[in-house]
Amino acid sequence: MAHDHAHGHAHDVRERRFAEGDREAWEREVDPRELYEPGRRDIYNFIDETKIRHLRPLLPASGSAVEIGAGSGRLLIRAGLERPYRLVALDYAAYAMRAASENARRAGRTVARVLGDARRLPFPDASFDLVLSGGLLEHFRDPAPVLREMARILSPRGLFYADIVPRKVSLYRWAERDRMQRAEHMAEGIYESDLPKGAWARLIRDSGLADVRVISAGVYPPYTFRGYDRLAWKYADLVRALDGTAVADVLGWFYMATARKP
Ligand SMILES: C[S@@+](CC[C@H](N)C(=O)[O-])C[C@H]1O[C@@H](n2cnc3c(N)ncnc32)[C@H](O)[C@@H]1O
Repeated sequence: MAHDHAHGHAHDVRERRFAEGDREAWEREVDPRELYEPGRRDIYNFIDETKIRHLRPLLPASGSAVEIGAGSGRLLIRAGLERPYRLVALDYAAYAMRAASENARRAGRTVARVLGDARRLPFPDASFDLVLSGGLLEHFRDPAPVLREMARILSPRGLFYADIVPRKVSLYRWAERDRMQRAEHMAEGIYESDLPKGAWARLIRDSGLADVRVISAGVYPPYTFRGYDRLAWKYADLVRALDGTAVADVLGWFYMATARKP
């Protein structure tokens, strides 16, 4: 090692398995906790329900909906249980195709699955009434091209929704506050942006969308605390009342962004 340091290329020597943005960095087994089972009182369902409550008054009455970086597709499927949408799940990882198909089966809905890249969406302009993403946008050093693609495929008056999990101190991820200061990667090949709320609002506006609203949410007990999810459910009204407040700006762990295509 001393030899490598002397030559200043310790990083080249420790070959990185994944470059940033590699599809392979996301490949994994489907996690049982991401399977659609709405009765389970865990944090996944708490969050899913929070998102759908936020979206419910804004959702278009019908048409087509797509989730970009769909992963398990749970949000898409929940939207499809609210309105009679044609559902499309796009992701570039194979695990997501398996997860979304299993979740569609569980929810009794049909989801078309598309293996594709968020940076070059394989859809025509103005082809969706609802474009969703969750936990996707923070994984690009430059999210602008992805936002432009999402805006491009929205039809006029269509709804854009994204939740974003920034690299920032939060009550829920308190245990990771040191890691966040040291590392801008969640895992090898997976970048985690620290852009603040206002910067996201500007980026979304710059992609050509209007009525942009970004709020902080997710003031949840630390996940290292035993029974944190039971606590969230027990005090659900209080926890959700903090969404969109200054308390959530400081202690929340995700942003919820909505906008409309003019
Ligand atoms: C943190 S996960 C979120 C998954 C999903 N929201 C859910 O609830 O399961 C991010 C997802 O984005 C996908 N992804 C990342 N970069 C992508 C890209 N350039 N094109 C398509 N999908 C991408 C990953 O494969 C992964 O499934």
